[in-house]
Amino acid sequence: MSTNLPAYVPPGTMDVLFTKEQIAERVKALGKQISEDYKDQSIVLIGVLKGAAIFLADLARAIEVDNTFDFVAVSSYGRARVSSGAVKLIKDIDNPIEGRHVIIVEDILDTGLTLNYLRDLMLQHKPASLKIATCLDKHERRLVPIQADYVCFKIPDRFVIGYGMDYAERYRGVEDIRIMP
Ligand code: IMP
Ligand code: MG
Repeated sequence: MSTNLPAYVPPGTMDVLFTKEQIAERVKALGKQISEDYKDQSIVLIGVLKGAAIFLADLARAIEVDNTFDFVAVSSYGRARVSSGAVKLIKDIDNPIEGRHVIIVEDILDTGLTLNYLRDLMLQHKPASLKIATCLDKHERRLVPIQADYVCFKIPDRFVIGYGMDYAERYRGVEDIRIMP
């Protein structure tokens, strides 16, 4: 593994886009909405590693209906800030989802390539229903037509870190969502 990392920018010097309080409020609201939409049903949350891990952890605790969770991993941007366009599955789901109500949980919906690929892949498993929850939606950057059913925040075309989101694997543990300069 290369240790040739880009220079470290302290997250405290970056502008805050959303505070941890603002994030918590939106995640609670999404959890409430999902609990109403799936009243008396049982759902499977499928988190996209690694970016969605923190959002999923908070969302699962804000959902009041019966739920389980699983994770998939796809090839990421690595250190580049733009997608290569190619998406590859690195880790599949552990448990079958046929006949289940599934919500894919993602950190950012950007070009849409990742979620478009995952949605098609999950549909092959014949779930009873399939929806998408994303913490952030960079709606201006879409290359394929795909929309999320649950969104915490729509954002402009800026590169952000924190709340699970990284730049070169750093900053995932930053509590606020901040703009990478
Ligand atoms: P898409 O396939 O272009 O929609 O890519 C979405 C993925 O790109 C997300 O799951 C993120 O991992 C990554 N990504 C896109 N924009 C950002 C950003 O601003 N910060 C960190 N990761 C990002
Ligand atoms: Mg991601």
